[in-house]
Amino acid sequence: MSIKLITGHIVHFPNSTESPQQDVVEIKQGALAIDGEKILTTDTAAQLTQRYPDAEVIDYGNKLVVPGFIDTHLHFPQTEMIASFGEQLIDWLNKYTFPTERQFEDPAYSRKIADFFLNQLWRNGTTTAAVWATVHKNSAEQLFSAAYERNMQILTGKVCMDRHCPDYLQDTPESAQQDSADLIATWHNKGRLKYAITPRFAPTSTEKQMAMMGELMSSYKDVYLQTHLSENQQEIAWVKELYPNSKHYLDVYDSYQMVTERSLFGHCIHLEDDEWRLMSEKGAIVSFCPTSNLFLGSGLYNLNKAKAFNVKTTLATDVGGGDSFSMLRTLGEAYKVFQLQNITMDSLSGLYMMTRGAADALKLPDIGDFNAGTFADFTVLDPHFNELSSLRLQDSDDAEDILFALSMLADERATVATWIAGNPVWQAQ
Ligand code: GUN
Ligand code: ZN
Repeated sequence: MSIKLITGHIVHFPNSTESPQQDVVEIKQGALAIDGEKILTTDTAAQLTQRYPDAEVIDYGNKLVVPGFIDTHLHFPQTEMIASFGEQLIDWLNKYTFPTERQFEDPAYSRKIADFFLNQLWRNGTTTAAVWATVHKNSAEQLFSAAYERNMQILTGKVCMDRHCPDYLQDTPESAQQDSADLIATWHNKGRLKYAITPRFAPTSTEKQMAMMGELMSSYKDVYLQTHLSENQQEIAWVKELYPNSKHYLDVYDSYQMVTERSLFGHCIHLEDDEWRLMSEKGAIVSFCPTSNLFLGSGLYNLNKAKAFNVKTTLATDVGGGDSFSMLRTLGEAYKVFQLQNITMDSLSGLYMMTRGAADALKLPDIGDFNAGTFADFTVLDPHFNELSSLRLQDSDDAEDILFALSMLADERATVATWIAGNPVWQAQ
């Protein structure tokens, strides 16, 4: 056995909880023992160095060692159009997104951006993500193969859209079904990879395509679904026009058997109570994307409703609608979105939402915490990453306070190292 000891200020949530502040496990001068790809145990550094005297020790001092962040919604082909000026959703799609996504018809280009994108995740301490490709089958293939080579847990899928977008980005109901099925056969459950059936949103799929996507969902019980829902008022009005017989936006997806406990819905800002109820009954998952919702002027996610209806909320960057790859910054913006609604979210609840809570929601039991047998996917954060954070945190050794300050002050600059499956894959210079 070649055991490594990672010493530092360990913080994680070993169990599912409604009360992250109570159920957090925080070990100052702690250690993770890892054996190959997996976590063996956690304890104080003193205990584990005694138990494993021959282990290699990687000492991170007083830095925080937390499970790798899980980003449940972002678009790798939108990396290069991040921070595009001046539009809200529909105009932003037409002006920036569709022309950018066109370039992914070229596999070499897809691969180049896939690698760039995965490096951005690592720099920011993100070790797992549910990622959108483009309509091109090759774009999903290139991301899958890049993630496979890196032994990373990535969920992705080819976008399906056969109307209301430029001709050069349209597939057909038949090609979308065939390409998705081929990708599932090749990539789903290969290594740590998972497939997500990916209809862009209700306006860009014909009813025939929606029906064929629904059939796919029913025939592959353990694949995921990712789509957009109730992000923008203009979009919602459009869905009402296109689907006059649906009770509400979510009913469109539900009528094609797309609302399940493996379905990830991006945004969910303007849901009606009936939609919240249905989300809850089906166990569906929200990807809350605060940077995107502010950047595109879409609105404020209502956490009180999600809690009242017992709907699972995960956190996501939605790059390039979101303007940052940093889950710390995303947490900071989530805090502000809630402040505007008189809700105060503590930073441990935020950390839970982007680690163990997201792993639970996605049904990925071998990530998200430091329990024995989980993958050693983790990130190391420096509370003193710059002068200002050093001043602010000079007397603090409390994880909740440190994480809160980092969520306001930090971004990728606070990432000291990111580890995937027991290997350091990114380290600050
Ligand atoms: N709705 C449909 N497509 C998109 C997209 O690419 N980004 C966002 N934020 N919303 C969408
Ligand atoms: Zn999105």
